[in-house]
Amino acid sequence: MKTKEIKISISEYEKLDELPASDQELILKARAVARNAYAPYSHYFVGSAIRLDDDSIITGNNQENASSPIGTCAERTALFWANANFPQLAVNTIVVTAIDQNGDAAKNVSPCGACRQVMLETQHRFNKPMRVILDSRSKIEILDRVESLLPLNFNGNSLKSIV
Ligand code: THU
Repeated sequence: MKTKEIKISISEYEKLDELPASDQELILKARAVARNAYAPYSHYFVGSAIRLDDDSIITGNNQENASSPIGTCAERTALFWANANFPQLAVNTIVVTAIDQNGDAAKNVSPCGACRQVMLETQHRFNKPMRVILDSRSKIEILDRVESLLPLNFNGNSLKSIV
């Protein structure tokens, strides 16, 4: 028997102005697009903003449906749009933020498992680490790569490992 330890590093900031201007800009875009989310069922309005490698910014939000399982999360709305329209551009950074119906920031923003898997696929596709910024009410967390959210993951290499 052996025990392995996985180390995950998270940089935590208290205020927006502690971050580089490019990250501040991306977070503000995510906060703005969260207000356009279609979330009449959960009343949990999520916004995502992505910075591509050419510095352009793509945004997305959650889109719910009366037939609940078919709705889509903010991160996947943004990532799929980015990958569909700019298939040659790696994603440098993704921001996730959320507000309630009064516009108050969510206490603890954390992407769902499906979105983590899609983030991982995008990172894998471009073979380049993607930064993840989680923008919560009183903290902003930055992770250097998607594996920090999904350490023991299933990816394209897993499919090749069947002997
Ligand atoms: N949601 C997101 O948009 N991103 C996540 O990572 C977590 C959940 C959305 C889906 C649904 O519209 C609402 O938040 C409540 O689950």
